[in-house]
Amino acid sequence: MKKMLVIHSSPRGERSHSRRLAESFIDAWQTANPDAQLTRREVGRAAIPHISEAFVAANFYPEPQSLPKVMKADLQLSDELVGELIEHELLVISMPLYNFGVPSGLKAWIDQIVRMGLTFDVTQDSQGMAQYHRLLTGKRALIITSRGGNGFGPGGENAAMNHADPHLRTILGFIGIDDIQVIAAEGEESDKSVFQRACEEAERQLHDLAGQF
Ligand SMILES: Cc1cc2nc3c(=O)[nH]c(=O)nc-3n(C[C@H](O)[C@H](O)[C@H](O)COP(=O)(O)O)c2cc1C
Repeated sequence: MKKMLVIHSSPRGERSHSRRLAESFIDAWQTANPDAQLTRREVGRAAIPHISEAFVAANFYPEPQSLPKVMKADLQLSDELVGELIEHELLVISMPLYNFGVPSGLKAWIDQIVRMGLTFDVTQDSQGMAQYHRLLTGKRALIITSRGGNGFGPGGENAAMNHADPHLRTILGFIGIDDIQVIAAEGEESDKSVFQRACEEAERQLHDLAGQF
């Protein structure tokens, strides 16, 4: 049975375009996969805590097998979020472009799921240099994003200023998810008709994808 995890990261509800496009994709995907399992995780309208000193101490504890019980509690939410990510082979992230990067709720989620020993590992080579290992396999991701301006996609005039989906590609790749597609609707701050066309095109692409995801 297919399992898909959807991360919504806009603080907006019904006004959010990335959320609406993602929900439209989910409808089409559920029609194509009626027996599939879907889990939604809200990180835009419900706060994921920023990581703390206690989290860092527990995450990088030198002997994880003997992590004291009291420190395990500092990783409880992170354990839950990592478990959720591991359980689903399909990942959808809906995301606004905020100040040329990912919204802070999504960044908080990222910091919770990049976990030593669970989603990545580190060893040292013969020179003592850090070597990173990706621990997730067999996953596929779809990023659905909405932007106020234009030209932030690959080859676009503002591509160099886009640190949102390129950042997600780096992070997901770092933990082992390389199969990533990005569908964007650009121009919410352009003329209404420009953005409407962009949303229609994004929705068309998402519906095409729904049967193969
Ligand atoms: C705090 C904030 C920062 C934003 N920063 C950018 C930006 O850097 N570049 C851009 O093109 N649009 C920017 N926008 C516009 C949003 O990307 C745009 O409104 C998008 O549609 C929001 O996604 P949503 O509809 O899913 O909430 C920003 C909007 C807000 C509220």
